[in-house]
Amino acid sequence: MTGFNEDTPVSPRRLLVTGAAGFIGSNFVRYWCSRYPQDRVVVLDALTYAGNRENLAELEGRDNFRFVQGDICDRPLIDNLLATEHIDIIAHFAAESHVDRSILGPGAFIQTNVVGTFTLLEAFRHHYHSPAATATPTKLFLHVSTDEVYGSLGPDDPPFSETTPYAPNSPYSASKAGSDHLARAYFHTYKVPTIITNCSNNYGPYHFPEKLIPLMCINMLLGKSLPVYGDGENIRDWLYVEDHCSALDAVIHRGQPGETYNIGGNNEVKNIDLVRLLCGIMDELAPDLPVRPCEKLITFVKDRPGHDRRYAIDATKIKTELGWTPSVTVAEGLRRTVAWYLSHRPWWQPLLSPEYQAYYRQVYL
Ligand code: NAD
Ligand code: DAU
Repeated sequence: MTGFNEDTPVSPRRLLVTGAAGFIGSNFVRYWCSRYPQDRVVVLDALTYAGNRENLAELEGRDNFRFVQGDICDRPLIDNLLATEHIDIIAHFAAESHVDRSILGPGAFIQTNVVGTFTLLEAFRHHYHSPAATATPTKLFLHVSTDEVYGSLGPDDPPFSETTPYAPNSPYSASKAGSDHLARAYFHTYKVPTIITNCSNNYGPYHFPEKLIPLMCINMLLGKSLPVYGDGENIRDWLYVEDHCSALDAVIHRGQPGETYNIGGNNEVKNIDLVRLLCGIMDELAPDLPVRPCEKLITFVKDRPGHDRRYAIDATKIKTELGWTPSVTVAEGLRRTVAWYLSHRPWWQPLLSPEYQAYYRQVYL
């Protein structure tokens, strides 16, 4: 066990959360601060194109919250934060996270995902073994990773378990696989308490427009075509982001250092079916749409190179060992998500910047 107590925390825990101006990290920090308000949360984020301080707006100004703009590759900065903030837990979300961008330019993925994770692990190793830190020995490095490291499943293959061999197929998943191996090695070699989580596709509020679900919601609201890659038969296992946060909570409090936990929603859906579901919900919820029904906007476009066919997670271990199960059905989660994009135009409109448009043209035109 990690030694952290969720029911009666003896003293406030001090977390360094990397990448928390992004999608999942910002949802996690909001979740954590509302559940454990006594804890101190320090966010470290470089504010790349995917990072947005607006995602944390409701936490800014709280006593127990601090935002630091900086790079996870900056070792002196991390050493300083770990020491001066007396950090107990690193929850490491920072990454380059979009597969299509990794195909266009893999260099940033190697730098942030591999070199950045290495830099954090090195800093944490020294912090963990420092005399000041050993006086309060309960510490944890939570490495948040992805199911994509396991590669692609055939239609009849069993879902990914924690013992499935790694077989990453994109520069993104290869860089995440490299970072997972480092997190594992630091436990075995240096006895640094690391835990790795491999989660399936998340969705929900604050998801950057480039990813499938927000892209489809926004394009429907703008009356733009809905680009489905290839034949649309690729399968993903969808998990509402709040359920990912509650799974990470269970791992932080009840997980075993040195272990890996797969996290998934048991919601395998073909892309084309998902897009049709979103169209139906949008038709129902949106009062005025440029094009209706939204299905008229579906367009099949050229496939993603190396596109993984199917992902599916076997989440038996986290269920039986840590007592976690997801609570939001895909029908409910998609409805909440569509409603969020419908009511948060001021959040997403500025993200469709000239840089974003240039990226969009590169992938889709
Ligand atoms: P995201 O792209 O929305 O956010 C990434 C954040 O990291 C951004 O705020 C960005 O500014 C920050 N960042 C990037 N490079 C940095 C650097 N060098 N230093 C500091 N900050 C940096 O990503 P996300 O979808 O929220 O994913 C978060 C983590 O969860 C990633 O590690 C990803 O691999 C993993 N994951 C994502 C999913 C998913 O479906 N989105 C599923 C499983 C696992
Ligand atoms: O499985 C977890 C992973 O899920 C995370 O590790 C990644 O960070 C996250 O981006 C996500 O990766 P995917 O590549 O699965 O997500 P994306 O939203 O980009 O695409 C989902 C599926 O939809 C995939 O099969 C590709 C397809 N797609 C995507 C886009 C953006 C389309 O058909 N059209 C699109 O325009």
